Amino acid sequence: MIIAIDGPAGTGKSTIANIIAEKLKITFLNSGGFYRTLTMALLDAGIDIKDEVKVLEFCKKQKIEYTKESHFILNGTDVTAYLHDDRVTANTSQVSSIVEVRHLVNDLMRKITASLSIVCEGRDMTTVVFPNAEYKIYLDASADVRAKRRFDQGVSNMTLEEIRESIIKRDEMDKNKKEGSLKIAEDAIYIDTSDLTIDKVCEIILNKIS
Ligand code: DC
Repeated sequence: MIIAIDGPAGTGKSTIANIIAEKLKITFLNSGGFYRTLTMALLDAGIDIKDEVKVLEFCKKQKIEYTKESHFILNGTDVTAYLHDDRVTANTSQVSSIVEVRHLVNDLMRKITASLSIVCEGRDMTTVVFPNAEYKIYLDASADVRAKRRFDQGVSNMTLEEIRESIIKRDEMDKNKKEGSLKIAEDAIYIDTSDLTIDKVCEIILNKIS
C-alpha cells in the first residue's frame, strides 16, 4: 500500500506522515530529506549549485542510505541533524529544481521502497513519483500559519517575518519547477490544516484509509 502526501512547506506533512506510518506499522519516506542531504553535501563541497552539470556529476557520486528510523546516511555518516539548518533549507529548492537530480532521487526512493508499504510525503509524491498510490492527500495551510509553525519549531535562526518571506519564496519555486512541481492531483483528498491540530489531520486521514 502507498499513501502519498503532498503540500507546501509547513503544513505538517512529515509529522503527520510519521504518525500515520507508526500507527499502520509501515515505512515513512521523507522525500525532502534526500534533496536536503544532497544540498548539504554540495554546499560543504563548495560547489556552485547553479552549475547544473557540476551538481549532477557530484550528486551521482554520493551514496545516500535511508534507515528504518528515517535517518539519512551520507557516505557513511549520519547527517540527519544538519538537514534543517537555514543554509540547507534556503538552497534546497534550487538543487531540487534540476530535472536530472530529481530523476536520480526518484529512482533511489523507488528502489528503497520497492515492495514496502509506505507513507511518503513531499511535493510530487501524488503526481510523479507514486502516481498509482492507493491514497493521495494534499495538505494546505495559509502562509501565515505555516510560518508561525516553523517559527515555533525553533530550528531556524530567522525572525517570524523572515521565515514567512522564505516560505513564500520556496512556494513560488516549488510551484514553478520544470518537473515535479507542487500541484494538487485530480484524485487527491484536499485538507486545509490551518485551523486543525496534527491529531485531527491524522484522524481525518486514518478515517479515509480504514
Ligand atoms: O519537505 P521539505 O521542506 O523537507 O523539502 C525540502 C525542499 O525539497 C523543498 O524546497 C522542496 C523540495 N522537495 C521537492 O522538490 N520534491 C519533493 N518531493 C520533496 C521536497
